[in-house]
Amino acid sequence: MPWPEMLAAHFLHRLVDQARASGYQERIALSRFKTHLLRDLFMNDISNNDVSRRDLLKTTTQVAAAAALAGVAIPAVHAAGDETINIALVGCGGRGTGATENALRTKGPVKLVAMADVFTDHVKSKHKYIQDAFPKQVDVPESRRFVGFDGYKKAMDSLRPGDVVILTTPPAFRWVHFTYAIAKGLNVFMEKPTTVDGPSTRKMFKLADESEKKGLKVGVGLMCRHCAVRGELFERINKNKEIGDIISMRAYRQAGLTATAFVGPKPDKGSELLYQIKNFHSFLWLSGGAFSDFLIHNIDECCWMKGSWPVQAKSSGGRHYRGNYVDQNFDTYSTEYTFDDGSKFHLEGRTMPGATSEFASYAHGSKGSAVISARGHSPARCKIYKGQKFVKSDLVWSAPAREPDPYQLEWDHLMDAIRTGKPYNEARRGAEASLVTSMGRMAAHTGQVITYQQMLDCEHEFAPDVDRLTLESASPLVADKDKKYPVPQPGIKTKREY
Ligand SMILES: NC(=O)c1ccc[n+]([C@@H]2O[C@H](COP(=O)([O-])OP(=O)(O)OC[C@H]3O[C@@H](n4cnc5c(N)ncnc54)[C@H](O)[C@@H]3O)[C@@H](O)[C@H]2O)c1
Repeated sequence: MPWPEMLAAHFLHRLVDQARASGYQERIALSRFKTHLLRDLFMNDISNNDVSRRDLLKTTTQVAAAAALAGVAIPAVHAAGDETINIALVGCGGRGTGATENALRTKGPVKLVAMADVFTDHVKSKHKYIQDAFPKQVDVPESRRFVGFDGYKKAMDSLRPGDVVILTTPPAFRWVHFTYAIAKGLNVFMEKPTTVDGPSTRKMFKLADESEKKGLKVGVGLMCRHCAVRGELFERINKNKEIGDIISMRAYRQAGLTATAFVGPKPDKGSELLYQIKNFHSFLWLSGGAFSDFLIHNIDECCWMKGSWPVQAKSSGGRHYRGNYVDQNFDTYSTEYTFDDGSKFHLEGRTMPGATSEFASYAHGSKGSAVISARGHSPARCKIYKGQKFVKSDLVWSAPAREPDPYQLEWDHLMDAIRTGKPYNEARRGAEASLVTSMGRMAAHTGQVITYQQMLDCEHEFAPDVDRLTLESASPLVADKDKKYPVPQPGIKTKREY
């Protein structure tokens, strides 16, 4: 059977499954529809193996209609009859621009067709930047550039089922935007963290299930999972046990003032909500703060190598040289994660100028040790040693110094899955990594041992009404009369982080 029919047949099976699960009326409607569709398809198959473009158009239009009826997403074969995957960017900042560039560099026709942000100048400047770099792949007229908290809907309304939306706002909005993307049958790339607290993680787990049921492809920006040399390290130390049992891991992300994790008081003029969004690493409701935003990569790569998520965390941390800064972060964090087998993972986070810097993850096993990453995300410079001393004479394996860019690889893999119809969904894993990150942060901010289950069941939702914000709204977090925000008080506030 030629490929359009194979694709159609694949969706018919999905339709039948959906029909079985749906009510009587839907079953009848779907069954009639299926009969017509089958007849058309298989007559076509018998009479003409060389499917014409018109047949393809007809078939894909029918499949798209059937898919819409059944709530099933179709991959990149559009009713419009071309293979171009259209992209909408929601959150036109640094990473959104980078992710769009990666998307436009993947194999096959890809076009940026819509953009949304809460700041007019972000849409304007990023549009110009991307348009200049990819003049043939950008088609975003003024009418598809949207500003405001509802811009995400309009941007996604500009896409067809099977296209891709990029969600690169601060994480607070992830579940809101993901909900709409699923309803529209869109494939998704979303940045990490995908959740900031227990309730938003529970929402994201449900959404992950829904997106899986619809067969959507979802990539989450934990790009180190796509790094080729970390992949080889995983095979060696997790699957082949080249360092024996992993009994201890440690990771460090220690730097000076990073991104917007330190912020001074809001200027007298202007919206408090937009000031916080501009400085989103400073506010827990928006990002989970410095802990969640900066440490999640090290946490995720270590848990990947271990092959499980920790069951509990205990942490400490504090605010040292705060000057006039009013953000909610600590500037040091030390966390001890414990896995189900009792083994430990120690994590050190620091944002303090003048102190030593390190950005690395290591694993120690019963027969040797490994460098998971040596100096940031890429190149990873993975190594395996016999013994625990990390000395040249003990070196067993070393990854090449150069490696493909994991930010590009994660997009190559996502788009390949979309074009070939392979199962591909990182939403659940992204939520798990975000939850485990929140668990370490909450342990530091409350001074309590926090288990995985406690974090998941935690009722403190930082911004429950985030889906209803408008440009005129008050922020979910309001400063006091001295323009200061509540900060965590370990040992005093033990059930909530602020
Ligand atoms: N994987 C990585 O290595 C990596 C690197 C950088 C950032 N990130 C992640 O990407 C996300 C964005 O980070 P960034 O550095 O690009 O920040 P940024 O501030 O540069 O970009 C965020 C953009 O989203 C816009 N925005 C905020 N709320 C919005 C809303 N409700 N609707 C539409 N637009 C909205 C902002 O105005 C801004 O333009 C974060 O989750 C961050 O953790 C990941």
